[in-house]
Order: sequence, then structure tokens, then C-alpha cells
Amino acid sequence: MSTMTTTPTSQLDRFARQVRSGRTVAPSGACRLGVDLGTGNIVLAVVDGDDHPVGGAWLRSTVVRDGVVVDWLGAVRAVGQLRDTLAGKLGVTFREAAVAIPPGIDAGTTKVFTNVLEACGLEASEVVDEPVAAATALGVTDGVVIDVGHGTTGVSILRDSEVLKSVDQATGGHHMTLVISGALGIDYEAAEQLKRDPAQGDLVIGLIRPTLEKMATIAAEATVGYEEFPVYLVGGSSSYPQSPAVFEGVLRRPVTRPDEPLFPTPLGTAMRRNR
Ligand SMILES: Nc1ncnc2c1ncn2[C@@H]1O[C@H](COP(=O)(O)OP(=O)(O)OP(=O)(O)O)[C@@H](O)[C@H]1O
Ligand SMILES: [Mg+2]
Repeated sequence: MSTMTTTPTSQLDRFARQVRSGRTVAPSGACRLGVDLGTGNIVLAVVDGDDHPVGGAWLRSTVVRDGVVVDWLGAVRAVGQLRDTLAGKLGVTFREAAVAIPPGIDAGTTKVFTNVLEACGLEASEVVDEPVAAATALGVTDGVVIDVGHGTTGVSILRDSEVLKSVDQATGGHHMTLVISGALGIDYEAAEQLKRDPAQGDLVIGLIRPTLEKMATIAAEATVGYEEFPVYLVGGSSSYPQSPAVFEGVLRRPVTRPDEPLFPTPLGTAMRRNR
């Protein structure tokens, strides 16, 4: 059973800083591009020949819903623009990219993700399950990955870097925003801003704790029989300081959440596997 060893958290922190600042660093060796088309965010990551992050770009977006690309043109435009930005800054040309998909989607739905890349002139070099990508960035091969995103919460059990079982539940950050909006009588965008304001942390956790507990209960049910697997929490909606403790309270075992839970999936999509 492996723990967080091979990839230091510093690489994830470095990537997060690159995405947030828009700064890139000079790559050493051939670059690899990864594309994560989420419900709340589209994130592109570039790693160099040593698998170190050299740049990233993102956009808040609504092109994917429930694991399905609902805005084809928007997705193609966003990926193309973010790719062009990164290619320009890094001085490289991307001909291919790896793309992350929600685990368990069918071949037809997967094809839509690879078609988005192809419409941008990118060959899909690899299709990787989102939890496998997150685990790659965390340096984990065996464990439970709980991904609390914008539209959904995914619970995946990984063994030898493959998904043994995955459960997807339609509760995520979007629903937290709706809860806050309803409770405080403010519009969706105001609730979304308030949700991410650390100064409002106590108010926000009070409102969304039951949602986190529900997600943790789903994770507990999905992982019966896998109690010995280490648990990792990723996804933007696991950002609250209290999130690991809430999950630990329900799952009754340690839960590890990296400091930058928004970024393991996109970073790990770009990283090479089976080296
Ligand atoms: N600091 C924060 N505190 C609370 N929530 C946050 C924070 N930062 C981001 N979020 C929430 O995280 C969500 C986006 O996370 P993420 O990018 O992991 O989702 P996604 O991959 O786009 O969605 P999905 O996986 O469901 O397709 C949004 O709901 C956003 O409001
Ligand atoms: Mg996601």
C-alpha cells in the first residue's frame, strides 16, 4: 500500500501557483499537455520531460454537466484558447494532449471528450480516469480518491493505479452554492463568491457541513470492504479547512487532503504513467 511518496506536494503547490499567476517556467525536455474538462473549471496543465509542472491555465466554465459535454463550441473555444496561451508562453507547439474523463462513462461519451481535443487540432494521446490522474499527481497507486467537484462527488477505489470501483453522486460545489443562496436569500453568483471567501468561513461551514457529511456517508457506503485503503480528498469543493475532519468523523479513519485540492486531477492528467 503506497502513500504520498513519489510526487512531493511541492510540485502540486508549484503547479497551483503557475495556474493562479499565469507564469510559466522554462521546460527541460519534451512537454506534455493535459486537459481536465470539469463542470466548474477547465484546467490545462503542462509538464516537462521530468514530469515537473511548467505551466497551467484555467477558466471557470459550464461546458460540462453530469460528465457530459453540453456546450461543444464553448469547450472547443476554451481548450483552444488556453492551449494557445500556454504554447505561446512556453514557446512550444502542442500536437497532442492527454484528457481526463469521469470514471465509468461509456465509449460514446468518452469520444466527445477526445473529439473536443481533435477539434482543437490535438490528437488525444491518452484518456485517463480523473481519479487515476489525481492519484498520479499525489504519487498514489492504491487508495480511495474522493473528488468533490462542482457538479458531482466521485468516490473511486484504486488498486495498482486502476479504478476497481467508482461511485458518482450528483452533489458538489454547485449544490453548496444553492444551499448558501437559499439560506441567506442572495443570488447564485453572490453565494458562489461568499462560499470561497475565507473571512466567511464559519458562516459557510455551518451551512454546508450537512452536505459534506452526506458526501462522506456516500463515501463510507461505497468503500465498505476497503477500510484498509488510505483515503485522499481532492476537488475544489473539499477546500474548506474542516473538510478532512468532517470526512474522518464519518469514515472513522485518516483522510489526507493536499493544500491545493483543485489541482491534482489536471496536473496528474499531464503527467506520464507507467514509466
Ligand atoms: N476555496 C474554496 N472554497 C470552497 N469551494 C471552492 C473553493 N475553491 C473552489 N471551490 C469550488 O470548487 C468547485 C470547482 O472544483 P473543481 O474544479 O474540482 O470542479 P470540477 O472538476 O469543475 O467539477 P466536476 O468534477 O464536478 O466536473 C466549485 O464549486 C467552486 O465553487
Ligand atoms: Mg473535476
